[in-house]
Parts: sequence; structure tokens; C-alpha cells
Amino acid sequence: MKELVITTNSYDEKDIPDLGNRFLTGNGYMGVRGTLEEYGKQQLAAVNLSGIFDRYGDGWREPLNAPNPFSLQLLVNGKEETLCPDNVKSHEQLLDARRGLHLRTTEYMDGTSMIVERFAHMEQVHLLCMNVVIKTKKDAHVRLNAAIDGDVWDIHGPHYRDMSCKENGDAAMVVGCTNEGDSVAVCAAYHTDAHCERQSMTENRKQITAFQFECKAGDMIAISMTASVFTSQDAQDPLLCAQKFVLESPSYPLLRKSHIQTWASLWDKANVEIEGDAEAERALNYSIYHLLCIAPRHASSLSIPARGLSGQTYKGAIFWDTEMFMLDFYLAVLPDVAKTLLRYRIDTLDGAREKARQYGYEGAFYAWESQEGGYDACSDYNVTDVFTGRPMRTYFRDKQVHITSAVVYGLYKYARWTGDESLWLEGGAEILIEAARFYYSYLVKSLKSDVYELWDVIGPDEYHERVNNNAYTNEMARFAFLQAVEISQWLKAEHSDEFDALNQKLNFEDELILFSQAAEQLKQPTQTDTGIIEQFDGYFKLEDTAVDAVRSRLKDPREYWGGAYGVASDSQIIKQADVITMLFMLRDQYDANIVRANYDYYLPRTEHGSSLSACMYALSACMIGRPNDAYPLFLKSAQADLVSGGKQWAGLVYIGGTHPAAAGGAYMTMLWGFLGFDYSRDAWSVAPKLPKGWKEISCKIMWHGKPMKLSSKTTKG
Ligand code: BGC
Repeated sequence: MKELVITTNSYDEKDIPDLGNRFLTGNGYMGVRGTLEEYGKQQLAAVNLSGIFDRYGDGWREPLNAPNPFSLQLLVNGKEETLCPDNVKSHEQLLDARRGLHLRTTEYMDGTSMIVERFAHMEQVHLLCMNVVIKTKKDAHVRLNAAIDGDVWDIHGPHYRDMSCKENGDAAMVVGCTNEGDSVAVCAAYHTDAHCERQSMTENRKQITAFQFECKAGDMIAISMTASVFTSQDAQDPLLCAQKFVLESPSYPLLRKSHIQTWASLWDKANVEIEGDAEAERALNYSIYHLLCIAPRHASSLSIPARGLSGQTYKGAIFWDTEMFMLDFYLAVLPDVAKTLLRYRIDTLDGAREKARQYGYEGAFYAWESQEGGYDACSDYNVTDVFTGRPMRTYFRDKQVHITSAVVYGLYKYARWTGDESLWLEGGAEILIEAARFYYSYLVKSLKSDVYELWDVIGPDEYHERVNNNAYTNEMARFAFLQAVEISQWLKAEHSDEFDALNQKLNFEDELILFSQAAEQLKQPTQTDTGIIEQFDGYFKLEDTAVDAVRSRLKDPREYWGGAYGVASDSQIIKQADVITMLFMLRDQYDANIVRANYDYYLPRTEHGSSLSACMYALSACMIGRPNDAYPLFLKSAQADLVSGGKQWAGLVYIGGTHPAAAGGAYMTMLWGFLGFDYSRDAWSVAPKLPKGWKEISCKIMWHGKPMKLSSKTTKG
């Protein structure tokens, strides 16, 4: 397996947010931003926790960042070693993605150098480990302040109303208590064989352990640290747990070894080889690295936020991104994780029922931005106007009803891919009934017509709000109706006791006929003679213009393109793949001519203002036999976190972070697109469509519980 190493020599302030994402390490329980050890909240340093949230005042509810035990300050002869060009002789930051290691090496002008290696342990997910090596060229007094920094970065905080810091001779400890009453404990133990003076102090929410050394020229000092993080969701007494865990944990070299072994076994399953294109291979495996870093392998019911574990943007919430863009990777590589992601939806069904009820609908209306329990963190004012500074009314929460069909689609993919029907019995079938009920209650019908319609929705293209009969939404709702009927029939036939129990609970059997009817009578999208599908009623009547023409109307680069007055709202310019996403997801239903017509029509009208967009076009390009056109779109998705750029703002709201949906979309393009993978109930096939220069793709996947090796040179199984 080829090495996968990402490096930079930059410590330029303007690169800090980007590098924080690019050099992220994580283990599904937490993500550690790739910021340097001397950085704090100003530089967006964060140890971002999965699945635990807090609200401060009436601000947005967001995930917690734990006190950061990777905080260091180095002083040589009383002078702080700063990261300024006139104090730095050389500097390198490195991510070893095969081993999940973050490394920085800095040599300062006075000849001192500091090398720090750190990682979030891939198996012992509560552990963070670090090894610091300091070398001196001259005799010097060296002081290293190693801290657990509780002065954390919060976007809508402060989330810790209390922070207590202490030390007990064995370990340093910081415990934060949130506004919602949760606590987060971080405990760190340090080890050095070098002779030193050691001192502890508390300062501004930091528990500092200072090490002082009298060094001779050429000395090399090593200090290792093991820290553990526990929250009140993990244990009744998180501090006690954190302490015990750290004090009982093996030494740094042993932890490093087991961490690397876990990474090696993950890579053994996940690695993709692309012979003939080293750049694409590297970008795709780098995307896979991120998907591995955020996979909740430690949990049985947890999902992945839209920005992974890279911070608090998008409120750490779960979107349709997970089921539609990330799930395929986990189905292929870590099916247990796929199950965990879907169990999260089963466990948040009550939240979805509650949301439907709040809006006056039946069944289950899943949260657009889902936190624990299915709580919808999406605000009614999700964008801030750049000109007035006022919040803008957005309708993502109330009108993006396609979210419920994404959950249905995820469950369907799981059963088809794994052959494991157990999720239907564990609550999946109940979701299907409640999803169908939701869409049924959303339908409208004119007195004079038999056609059912879905009015007042937002499709994937968020720039056009409150439209009628968005093709994607209608077709996915139809899919949800049909699934509800099909799986209910299967349940009745194969698991009659479970069917009876479910029917007793929901009393739905008579509704199945209504669901079938709805699937039949739901409005078919308007289609031109050449097969172009109208994105929603009236879309073709909007101004037909070019993306650049619309862009040139912006008065501020951060201006929001959609909503009531957005530059795109009255035009055919769309934010992201919409009809095209439908054509891929429901690909069994459309022939290549339709896909071709829509691809050619919508691509020039798409801004790709979301990182979810390019991969859908890449997939469609492959479906119509144009892998070379797919290639740059694939690369754009695979490199979303590897190269700078990407949207950082929606109006005045910061939306930066990693892009796991783009990473998942790149994987999907490799698998469904270039490799042309497909399956029926009991067989799979591969119909490769390789872009120019590619000689072979090979990867391993799990299919129906069995490991398989796929290659573009072996086309049947
Ligand atoms: C996109 C949504 C997506 C969300 C989170 C938005 O910009 O329009 O489709 O779910 O970002 O990634």
C-alpha cells in the first residue's frame, strides 16, 4: 500500500483554518483539528466531540469542544518560541494518513527544535496521545508549559459555565460543566525520563504542567502525554473514569503501536488503488482517511455531522448528507458502522414524529439538522444578511421535506447491500410507515383532478424556496410510499408476528392501499420532448442565464444567493445537483438518454455552491459513458479538503470545516461510476468506465456479509 502523507511548510495566519481541517485526526468519538500545539481558540484549535451538544442563551445549539490537552508553549532561556517568520528557521506539519499520526517539526532561529507527534487513538477512542521531543544546539534553560486548555473555541458559546482545573500529583485535570448540565472531563498524565523540575499551575481555564530542564548543547529531551476524555454521556463520573483510564493506560510506544495496527486493519479494508493516476488515488484515499476518522465505530447508534468532527459549524448536526452521500462508503467497507448510522435514525423516530406533529402533519418528519433525540437544530433564520446584519427567514427546517425520504432510502440501501433484513424488524419498518404517513399528509389534490401534488417544498437546490412539485422530492416521496408497501407485505409474509405487533402499535394495514394509490397518482415531473425534467413547477419560466452572470450581480462575495431577494432566486441557476441527484438515486428508472439530456441542461446552470453537487454530476457523467467529463468533478469532490477554497460563508454565517459528503461522493463515483459496480439480489457486476490514463481500479468491499475484491479487470461475481 502506498504511503499517504500530507505536508505543509506554512504557518501563515491566513492558512490556519484550512490547515485545521486538512490535518484533522480523529477516531469517531472525537476529532482533533490540525492546528499547531501553541494555538488556542483564536486559531480555531478544537477537540470536537461527537453527539454531545449545548445551548448558550438563545444562541444556536452546537456540539462541544473538549478542553484541549494538546496545548504547548516552549520557552528557551525565558524567551517564548513563537511561530513568527523571524523566529522560525524551518517548519513542517505532516499528516501520516496511513497511521493516523499528526507530526510537526519546527526549528527556531536559536537552534532549538521541537518535534511533536500526536494522535487520537483509533481503538481506545477516549485517548489522546502526544510525544514531544526538544533538541537544543546550545546550553539552555528550557521550559515547556504543557496545558489542558479549557479556554475552548465556541461559535455560539460559552458552552462551559464552569471549568475546574486541578492536579493531583499523578495527572492534570480539567472538568467543564455546560449550560445544559453535562460535564466533560479531560485528564492528562505526562512522562519524561529526563531530569527536570515540574510544577503545576492553573491559569485562565488552563491546567498547566511546566517542565524545566537545564540542557547541554546537543541534548534531546522527550516528554510524552496520554490524556483521556469522558463526558457525562459516557459515565456517571466522567472525571473518575478519565483519571482511571489515563493512569491504567499503556506507555506511549505501546499505544502508538496498537493505534497504528488498528489503522492498518482499517486500510486493509478501505484502500483503493488507481493504477495510472497517482493524483486521483491519493485524493480518493485522503477522502477515505476522513471517512475513517469520523466513523462511529465505538457506538451502536450514532451518526455523522455534515462537517464531520471538524468543529461546531452546521451545529454538529446530521443532514441527509449521511444517508445519501456517506452511507455507501460505510456499507462497502464498514457495514457495522452503516448500521450504527441507521440505528441513529431509528432512535430518533420519536423526534421526527414530534416534528411532524408540530407542523400539523402525520407520521415522521425528520429533522433537517438533527441532533440527539432527533431534535431539529435548524433555525428559522439560518442565514444572516450581509447588508443589514439581520437574520434572514429561511425555510430549510420547515420545507426540506425530502429529508424523510433520505432515511427511507438509507434503510433500503442497507438491506439491499448487506442482505441483512434485521433493521426492518428493529424499527426500520416502523420508519417506513411513518414516512409514508408523513408524505400522505403533505399531499394536496385539486377538487377537479385525481393528481396528488407536493406543494411548498424546498428541493436539494436550496436557492429556490417554497416551490411546488420539486421533481426530486416527488420521486423520492413516491419511492417512500412504495417501500412502505413492499416492506409491509414482506413483513406480513415472512414475519407475521412482527407484522401483527407493528400493526397493533400503528394500526396501519388499511393505509397501505392509500400509499399505493398515492405512489400511482403523485404528479409526474414535467418533461420536455427531449427528456429534460423540470426541476419544479414553473422552473422553465425563470430567467435562463449563466452562473457567471448571476455571480456578477453580487454586491458582496458572502451574499446569500437564495431566499426572497437572492441573485439566483428568480433565475434557473441552481445551487447544487437536484434533478441530477434524483436520476442517480433512482437510476433503475431512467435510461441514458434522459440522463444525458438533463446532464447537459443542468450542468451549466449549476453553481456547485454545495460540496454535495459535483459528485452527483460525476456519477451521471459516468452513467452516460462520459468518464472524462466526470473526472474533474470527481477530483473536485475528492480534493474538497485537500486544496484550499470552498465556501466558508453563507451570508454572515461561518460554514467552514471538512466535507465528508464530498468525500463519500468521491467514493461513490469511484464505485458506481468509474468501476460501474452494480448488483441484483444475489450477484454483482462491474462495468468499468475509466477516464483517460487510468489503467485499473481495485478495491475491497463487503457485499452480503462477504469480503470481495473488485477490479476493473474482473467484471463479474
Ligand atoms: C446543502 C445541503 C447540505 C448542507 C450540509 C448545504 O449547503 O445545500 O444540501 O445538506 O449544506 O452539508
